[in-house]
Amino acid sequence: MPRVVRFPRFGGPEVLEIADEPSPEPGPGQVRVAVRAAGLNPVDYKRRRGGSAYGVTLPGRIGRELAGVVDAVGPDVDALQVGEEVFGSVPDGALADYVVAGETMLAVKPAPIPWPVAGGLALAGQTAWDALESQGLRAGDVIVVSAAAGGVGSLLCQLALSRGIHVIGSASAGNADWLRSVGVHPVPYGHELPARVRELAPSGVTAAFDLHGDESIQQFLDLGIPPERINTNAGDAERFGVRRAGRGAPDLGTLGTLAAFAEIGALRVPVTAIFPLDQVADAYRRLEEGHLRGKVVVVP
Ligand SMILES: NC(=O)c1ccc[n+]([C@@H]2O[C@H](COP(=O)([O-])OP(=O)(O)OC[C@H]3O[C@@H](n4cnc5c(N)ncnc54)[C@H](OP(=O)(O)O)[C@@H]3O)[C@@H](O)[C@H]2O)c1
Repeated sequence: MPRVVRFPRFGGPEVLEIADEPSPEPGPGQVRVAVRAAGLNPVDYKRRRGGSAYGVTLPGRIGRELAGVVDAVGPDVDALQVGEEVFGSVPDGALADYVVAGETMLAVKPAPIPWPVAGGLALAGQTAWDALESQGLRAGDVIVVSAAAGGVGSLLCQLALSRGIHVIGSASAGNADWLRSVGVHPVPYGHELPARVRELAPSGVTAAFDLHGDESIQQFLDLGIPPERINTNAGDAERFGVRRAGRGAPDLGTLGTLAAFAEIGALRVPVTAIFPLDQVADAYRRLEEGHLRGKVVVVP
């Protein structure tokens, strides 16, 4: 019997359980995907903990991004066929053996991209892309990114660098060398950050991207960065009067571009850890430690 990960009540990773359920049937415009890898994201544990903003109905399903093989096709599907390798993002429930998704949520996976990389690319990658696009940056601009080595940050930094933008990124010492290896100037987070950013960018920075939370937004404001040049995906945009662009509906053109970059090695998707589906609670424990490089991925 196919397995799904679900949570019958809100709480920590311990509330996750694996249930056997019949394979879902694709409806009009939908395909069924045999999941090969699913990336974990902070939004998963925010939903699982019961954040009122998420409106989760119990038992809840978990997981927002995946890669796999199309294994059944519903009526009125135009672009995808059985056997096609795909990746994309879904509203929830990606942590399962089989997932039904609208074909507009799935892009074709180039064969050379490993499953764990493709499984962790869609949601983090599109968030990074959309956030970056929202600031209308040009070659020569200088940006600062908090949590630069995380799932979104690691991709946002590389996408910016590919456009000729100079990138300063905050991370712990353990991630500094990795950031340097892709071309980012690493700075420690915490109280040292403003002084280090001023040293590296004496003429100021063009824009800032927060992927950690309110403390980073406050530091960016203290650096004199105008609120409209600060984007947050992690903190309270309204409280600070900053912007919150990042990941609207999945865009297949964007996913295709991200995959093309990943295929030629122009976008590296670091995968910190891979867990089998039956160790999904441990996978979330790893993610929720909050200190990782790139993605944690579950492989059914
Ligand atoms: N739709 C959306 O808007 C959207 C989509 C995706 C994500 N998000 C949000 O964006 C945020 C980032 O997501 P993610 O997937 O990139 O998370 P993540 O991968 O879990 O981020 C982990 C990173 O946070 C860094 N970090 C830990 N403590 C820090 C501190 N005090 N200051 C600065 N950085 C610190 C860690 O750096 P070290 O390991 O070097 O310590 C690590 O690399 C989350 O809040 C998520 O919910 C929003």
